[in-house]
Amino acid sequence: MIQVAFLGFGNVNYHLCNSLCNNDYISVNQVYNRNKILFSSELEKIPFTTALSELKNADVYIIGIPDDAISPFSERVPFENKLVVHTSGGAEMAALSSKNRKGVFYPLQTFSKKSEVDFKKIPICIEAENASDLKLLKQLGETISEKVVEINSEERAKLHVAAVFVNNFVNYLYHIGHEIVSENNISFDLLKPLIAETARKMESILPKEAQTGPAKRNDLKTIEKHLHLLQDSPYNQLYQQLTKAIQTTAHGKKL
Ligand SMILES: NC(=O)c1ccc[n+]([C@@H]2O[C@H](COP(=O)([O-])OP(=O)(O)OC[C@H]3O[C@@H](n4cnc5c(N)ncnc54)[C@H](OP(=O)(O)O)[C@@H]3O)[C@@H](O)[C@H]2O)c1
Repeated sequence: MIQVAFLGFGNVNYHLCNSLCNNDYISVNQVYNRNKILFSSELEKIPFTTALSELKNADVYIIGIPDDAISPFSERVPFENKLVVHTSGGAEMAALSSKNRKGVFYPLQTFSKKSEVDFKKIPICIEAENASDLKLLKQLGETISEKVVEINSEERAKLHVAAVFVNNFVNYLYHIGHEIVSENNISFDLLKPLIAETARKMESILPKEAQTGPAKRNDLKTIEKHLHLLQDSPYNQLYQQLTKAIQTTAHGKKL
C-alpha cells in the first residue's frame, strides 16, 4: 500500500486525489490546503488540514500548487528526507527543497475541476533523484495510468513548451473562434465537428500533412477578404502572423 498526501488542492491534485482514493493499492492519508476547501461526499472521509505542522506520515507528498510557489512552499514543509514531488511540466525537479528527496509526477493533460478526466490514457512523466523513489513513482503512476514514462527536467521543459502550443494556444484559438461566431449570432456548435476532426486526424497523420486552409493553399484572395473582415479586430495581427507561419512551413518561405 502506497501512502500519499496531497499538498495543495487545485485542479491537478483534486483529480489525482479522486482517482487515487478509489484505488486498492493506495491510501490517501491526508490533504493539506492553506485555505479550507469543500469536499465532495466521496472525499469527505480523507483527513484534511490547513496546518503544515499537522502533516502526517506518507510515502510520497504531492505538491500541486502554482509553479512559482513550489520552491518556497517546499522549504516550509516541517519534515526531512521524505519523498516530495511536484506535478509541474514547467518547473525543474531542482525547484524542490533539498531537505527532502525530490521527484516529479507530471500528468500530461489539461485539468479543470469541473471537467471529468480518465487517467488511464494520460501519460504520467516521472523523475526522481534515486532509483527506489523512481520505482515508487512508477508503481504509483501505474495504478492509474497505462503510460508512465521517465522524463528528466530538461526533456520535460521541452515537452511542456510543446504542450503549451498544442493545448493552451490551440484553446485560445478556439476562444477567438467562439468570440467571432457569438458576435455574429452564429452557434459555436457548428464548429465542434471541425474541432473534433482536427484532433482526431493527429491519431493517423502528421500535423504538417493535416494542414489545410487559405494559408496552406496560398489563396491570397481569401486571405485578403479575411483581413478585411478583421480590419477592426484585435485578432488581425494574429491572423497575419499565423498565416505567415503556415506559409513558411508549407512553402519554405522566410518568416
Ligand atoms: N491545470 C493543469 O492543466 C495542469 C496540468 C499539468 C500540470 N499542472 C501543474 O500542476 C500544478 C498545479 O496546477 P493546478 O492547475 O492544479 O493549480 P491551481 O488549481 O491554480 O492550484 C491552486 C492550489 O494552489 C494553492 N496555492 C496557490 N498559491 C499557493 C501558495 N503560495 N502556497 C501554497 N499553496 C498555494 C491553492 O491554495 P488555496 O485554495 O488556499 O488558494 C490551491 O490549492 C502546477 O505546477 C501546474 O504547472 C497543471
